[in-house]
This record gives sequence, C-alpha cells and structure tokens, in this order.
Amino acid sequence: MTMMTEWEAVQKRISCRSFEDRMIDPVILQKLKECIDQLNEESGLHFQLFSSDSKGRPAIKMAAAMFSGPVYTFAALVGGEDPLSAEKVGYYGHRFVLYAEQLGLGTCWVAGTYDKKSITVDVPEGERVWDVIPMGYATEKIPLKQKTIRKMIRRSDRKPEQFLESDTAYENAPNWIKKGIEAVLLGPSAVNQQPVNIIYRDGKVSAKIWKKGNGLEHNDLGIAKKQFEVGAAYAGVNGHFLPGDGAEFVID
Ligand SMILES: Cc1cc2nc3c(=O)[nH]c(=O)nc-3n(C[C@H](O)[C@H](O)[C@H](O)COP(=O)(O)O)c2cc1C
Repeated sequence: MTMMTEWEAVQKRISCRSFEDRMIDPVILQKLKECIDQLNEESGLHFQLFSSDSKGRPAIKMAAAMFSGPVYTFAALVGGEDPLSAEKVGYYGHRFVLYAEQLGLGTCWVAGTYDKKSITVDVPEGERVWDVIPMGYATEKIPLKQKTIRKMIRRSDRKPEQFLESDTAYENAPNWIKKGIEAVLLGPSAVNQQPVNIIYRDGKVSAKIWKKGNGLEHNDLGIAKKQFEVGAAYAGVNGHFLPGDGAEFVID
C-alpha cells in the first residue's frame, strides 16, 4: 500500500469530531511516536503523545457539546509562550496532523474545547500547552451534529483572492502561489478566522497576520505556512518560510 502524499492529506483533512470506539493500531502508534520525537528534535518543542492502554478508558475527555466517541490517543502541543514559539507549535503541529492524516487517522486541532483536568502534561517552566490533537479512526458517517458544527464554522470561509495582497490580480499570480493559497484556505484555523494573508510584491512572497484577536493567530500563522508550502510544492516550487510574522518564502 502506498502512503497518501502530503498534498492528498491537505485535500482530505477536515477536523474530526466523531471517533470510532477503537484504539489505534500499535504499528501506527509507533510511527506517531517516532514522528513526535523527530519533530521535537528539529524544533526544540516539547510535544508529547499520550495513549490509553485499554479500551473503555479514554486518554482525554473532550467537550461533549462538540465531540462524539472516545479519544484513546492525543498529542499535547507544548512550547514557549512567545509568538515565535506559538508559530512553531502551529508549523510542527501541523506537520504532525498531516502525517497522521497520511496514516489514515482523523485529527482535530483543539485549543479550548476539552477538559483540562482530564490530562496531566509535563510543561517546562515558561511554557504552556497550546493545543491538543485528539486522534483516532473517524466514523465512516459523520453524525448530523458534527456535520452541522463544521458547516456553521466554515460559513466564514474567505475566497482565494481575499488571501492575496499584491499589485498583481489573483488570476494573474503564478500558479504555485495560487496552489499555495488554495492549501491555506483548506487548512484549519482557530474558529476558522483564516487570519493569515499571502503577500506577493516585487517577486517576493511572504505570510502575514491581518486579523488579531483570539490569541491563537501565531498558531494559525505556522499552520498556514505549512499548508502553503505543501501547495507550492505540489505546483513544483519547493521552499519554506522564514520564521516570523511577515517573513519571506525562500525557494530551496
Ligand atoms: C489553533 C486552533 C485551535 C482550534 N481549537 C478548536 C477547539 O477548541 N475546538 C474545536 O472543536 N475545534 C477547534 N479548532 C478547529 C477549527 O474550528 C477548524 O479547523 C476550522 O473550523 C476549519 O474547519 P476544518 O478544520 O474542518 O477544515 C481549532 C483549530 C486551530 C487551528
């Protein structure tokens, strides 16, 4: 079986809020652990993977108003409180989410709607749990409630051209930039605020927060950067953003 590509994962991913009562296969779980170790090594962050060892005993309690089904495995995304760390959490956290998607799992970025008392996470001095990523097997049929939740939040979707700040009209922008934006639009953001724009001026591309307010914009910035990179790569341009709000995209 060939694994789905990152681009396919971007196309397929949606926030999963209904899980089957089924524990993650040990082979898959091992891959997730290795991925977390790798990301921590690259980033210096303190992501942690938690998994229950028995069915009927979920590893975390999600808010019942939003989620259904037990969550036996989740990642806690731990990092520094400053904006650059928050962005890193977004970027590396999203690499993890896309990898889980490639392995056939459902995931959801969750900053708020879970019971914080239901988990014990190791948080170094000066750091915090930014988000958790509950994960497992998505139910084949999405219950009406979760379908409605997503539809309501996604109603605020912006159009691709609204993501572009440029002297060039959207339709005349290079294809790889349009593919990058397409991926940013498809990506997750806190309460679907889509607070990140792509700037294209003087032949240079950068990513910038245009909308502040909920305190998670820098998570969203990191996520948007990862999504853009996957879209651009799919269109044949491999590159990465430098860290920071307003930082440039560098072609590799
Ligand atoms: C940083 C961040 C925090 C989020 N926190 C929550 C949360 O607390 N509860 C929740 O149900 N969804 C949460 N979400 C998921 C968003 O609501 C979701 O990504 C957005 O509505 C877009 O929908 P989609 O992911 O299904 O494409 C969060 C997403 C991000 C990126």
